[in-house]
Amino acid sequence: MSWTKKDLLGLEYLSKEELELILATAESFKEISSREIKKVPALRGKTVVNLFYEPSTRTRVSFEVAAKRLSADVINIATETSSVKKGETLIDTGTNIQALKADVIVIRHNYSGAANMLARHLDISVVNAGDGWHEHPTQALLDIFTLKEKVGKIEGLNVSIVGDIAHSRVARSDIWGLTKLGAKVTVCAPKILIPEGIEHMGVRVTHNIDEAMRNADAINVLRMQFERDEKAVFPQQLEYFKTYGITLERLEKAKKDIVVMHPGPINRGIEMSSEVADGKNSVILEQVTNGIAVRMAVLFLVAQVADSKKNEFTH
Ligand code: CP
Repeated sequence: MSWTKKDLLGLEYLSKEELELILATAESFKEISSREIKKVPALRGKTVVNLFYEPSTRTRVSFEVAAKRLSADVINIATETSSVKKGETLIDTGTNIQALKADVIVIRHNYSGAANMLARHLDISVVNAGDGWHEHPTQALLDIFTLKEKVGKIEGLNVSIVGDIAHSRVARSDIWGLTKLGAKVTVCAPKILIPEGIEHMGVRVTHNIDEAMRNADAINVLRMQFERDEKAVFPQQLEYFKTYGITLERLEKAKKDIVVMHPGPINRGIEMSSEVADGKNSVILEQVTNGIAVRMAVLFLVAQVADSKKNEFTH
């Protein structure tokens, strides 16, 4: 199959075949990062703009590294020092970046749907780097890529997602991606952190961490997003660690080869202990490394489509 979308907005909108195409493309790009000269000319002459309205380390840096490995020019816009501070709207910012002849905008925004809205107004590609509580598609793609690399398949795996499901764009993207690829997904958290009706996304719900870990081939442990806790609904940190935190003791009762993932940044001693985060089952830093190949694949695929649409228009 060939890729036909100019944007990557969420895994909800992708078919199983499209997910597999991104993963296969990422696999072919991964080797480039181990070369002495870590660069190919695939996006030479293209400009990628990172437009981040929220803080980020992993996503912003790995999109920049990915674009540079493909020989694109990269511009990072820190909204704190841009005209956003003077009240410019998201659409105006986007159309101005398009007028400056950028080819791809990678956007992180605190509002759910911000990337979708921008994509509707622009002819150039838009890649969602996390929007509110909606989706974080490239995070889920790198989670899935890492899990597949580790276990050899996704179909039939038992994957438990533990933590703040209610406020997590990573959880939503992981659920869409994993279920489309045939994994059996369980979500585990206190009642207050599980959105009502989540079962309709094809997942099992438990509030018991030992049950979530019992038959799991992998656990993806989510960050407690204390900065979003405006109504102080989150459980006490120590209480949470006691009831849901991933410890060596809990890991010993799970499958021996259980894969432990976390999208980062980790709250050590809250979602998991340092022994687990840095232990033999953890693939957390491999996830970060794989983010480069996955984001290279996404930038490459969407840029090709935006290009062919431009050609259709001019001929
Ligand atoms: N996982 C993730 O999105 O991390 P950053 O916020 O550092 O980009």
